[in-house]
Amino acid sequence: MTKLIAGNWKMNGLRGDAAARAAAVVQGAAGLAAELWLCPPFTALAAVEPVLRGSAVALAAQDCHARPHGAHTGDVSAPMLADAGCRGVILGHSERRAEHGESDAAVCAKVRAAQHAGLIPIVCVGETEAERDAGQAETLVCAQVAASLPEDFTGVVAYEPIWAIGTGRVPTEADIAAMHAALRRALVQRLGPAGQGVRILYGGSVKPENAAALLHVPEVGGALVGGASLDPAGFLAIARAAG
Ligand code: PGA
Repeated sequence: MTKLIAGNWKMNGLRGDAAARAAAVVQGAAGLAAELWLCPPFTALAAVEPVLRGSAVALAAQDCHARPHGAHTGDVSAPMLADAGCRGVILGHSERRAEHGESDAAVCAKVRAAQHAGLIPIVCVGETEAERDAGQAETLVCAQVAASLPEDFTGVVAYEPIWAIGTGRVPTEADIAAMHAALRRALVQRLGPAGQGVRILYGGSVKPENAAALLHVPEVGGALVGGASLDPAGFLAIARAAG
């Protein structure tokens, strides 16, 4: 399966820097084996879209509303993202679950909306440090997957331990392998044979220095990269490590 390397820029970048950063990624992306996505903030989508158009790098967003349109001040719908040129959308990121109280059911409704609009969702799941210390990580993360994915899910899952995001700390390769194997079983249980084809990304402090090791753990289908994706050279180095 082709590995997917997605850059989650979070709430960073004005239109000018976003377009320049995207152009640098496009320039370095030729010939890479991995599939690349860039996920700028909403306000930069229109600036980045023409830079990526016709290139090997796809545009994606960081959230959408569950409804296609209506009285939802400040929100953006999945059809709007498709109209803006997005191929996909990150959903259920732990920062949204924590800061906006998004439940698994709310994430699931957004996933349905994204799929209906023709977008590929990347659905994020992950445990807190206290949950891992309590030996609950696999059970809780697999339950999150089961409750966040509709029965006809056709997207990507990202395992992002919350304690590894932006901290420079990463789980051991053995812990990642165990979690990804558990997620594969949970996906097959939830989706049937289609669960075998779902890519499971790892996310949380992926850097050029650790990317090769993380990306070669069994069942790791790519990476969701936050901080390191803001530097085009670093992001491209991570993408090369996937090859
Ligand atoms: P990080 O973020 O790479 O900065 O740890 C990953 C993410 O939140 O998707």
